Amino acid sequence: SLIDGMDWDALDAAIMSCARCELAKSRTQGVPGVGDRQADWLFVGEAPGANEDRLGEPFVGDAGKLLDAILAAIGLRRGENVFIANVLKSRPPGNRDPKPEEVATCLPYLVRQIELIRPKLIVAMGRFAAQSLLSTDMPLGKMRGRLHSYHGVPLVVTYHPAYLLRNPLDKAKVWEDMVLATDTMHELNR
Ligand code: URA
Repeated sequence: SLIDGMDWDALDAAIMSCARCELAKSRTQGVPGVGDRQADWLFVGEAPGANEDRLGEPFVGDAGKLLDAILAAIGLRRGENVFIANVLKSRPPGNRDPKPEEVATCLPYLVRQIELIRPKLIVAMGRFAAQSLLSTDMPLGKMRGRLHSYHGVPLVVTYHPAYLLRNPLDKAKVWEDMVLATDTMHELNR
């Protein structure tokens, strides 16, 4: 498709004016992603929520505060060697789950972002990010705890921060996942 060859400016413009699915009618704006375009780390979430839709930046609400804390725990800061993006670039109304056809329609934007960033490691947060990037319908619990590969890029699966807000006891598992991620990154940089 046309998206395959886009540079950053064209890609962002395409996302902002995208009308490839019905979410275009209800969103305030597209939310392409934020951060360092040459980052070693890419964190991928599900879709913009109400705050993200209003501000145009991913993970700026309560889940975002938790994501910032997770990043800080492994020595990272939003925008510095990290890029943060979502599978869907437009907010689903009422924060409902993305529909399969919306994921299929929107995924080429994320695929192109990954091609442009060329991250060393991807962290897929939650079921939609993990299943979309790995083309599987495996449950998240089965994907955690080992290294995956997205076209040769190491990919770590972890819980979504919004899930963690509701299930704080699973923070220990996310910590294990971040240890796997940082160990992998250190190995790559050795
Ligand atoms: N949840 C997500 O998956 N992405 C955001 O940008 C915010 C909340």
